[in-house]
Amino acid sequence: MFNHAIVCPPSSSFSKGLTSAQLGEPVLELAQEQHAAYCTALKRCGIDLIKLDPDPQYPDSTFVEDTAVLTRNVAIITRPGAASRRGEVSSIQARLRPYYSSIFKIQSPGTLEGGDVCQVESHYLIGISERTNEEGAQQLAGFLERDGFQVSLVDLLKSKGLLHLKSGIAYLGDGRIVLCPDLENIPLWNKYEIIPVDPEEGYAANCVRVNEYVLLAAGYPRMAAKLSTLGYRTIALEMSEFQKMDGGLSCLSLRF
Ligand code: GLY
Repeated sequence: MFNHAIVCPPSSSFSKGLTSAQLGEPVLELAQEQHAAYCTALKRCGIDLIKLDPDPQYPDSTFVEDTAVLTRNVAIITRPGAASRRGEVSSIQARLRPYYSSIFKIQSPGTLEGGDVCQVESHYLIGISERTNEEGAQQLAGFLERDGFQVSLVDLLKSKGLLHLKSGIAYLGDGRIVLCPDLENIPLWNKYEIIPVDPEEGYAANCVRVNEYVLLAAGYPRMAAKLSTLGYRTIALEMSEFQKMDGGLSCLSLRF
């Protein structure tokens, strides 16, 4: 159950952010509209929004999820692997302070981005990726284990199509994991029901369970049908402008 989410609308420098997508330049006004619809959806899920001001100094700062990992008891401020994103964490840490008495930080030479961290009940999966290194993952594992969680590391370095772990996996609750084909060979999932993502719908793997709803990207009818068949209430959101910048639904909020 989530009560709060931090969000940050895309700023005037949004199109200068990092991307490998080759889907063209994002249109800022459309990105702002899509972000507003995302915020409306979170409110519909019962979330109290904490909205940061757009920050043109950091073009990728709308992807707030990468800046922290939040459990019920502790906040861990990350150290993004992308050097251009390191400064994003300051404003997030300041906004989390009223909600968390225990705030820890990933230290150099560790790097970690929240998109590489997926909670599955009392077990956290941490992807080792171009953005999250082994040292950062081990530091996070230490904080999480002290907070009572189990941790497994997942090597993503061979899954070249995935920026982050959560580009290819989502935990829906109810013992169900949405999984893209790139991750199917990882032997971690035996006790869970796998909801496979069609190869043509890879982007749809990044869906997010928020309380009674599942947010999913619009335009992926097979995933929408699978979720509907399983009885989930879904909210489909247009994500074209964020997809152009390698961003997904989960990255646009820090939920706690
Ligand atoms: N544009 C999102 C990222 O590359 O971090």
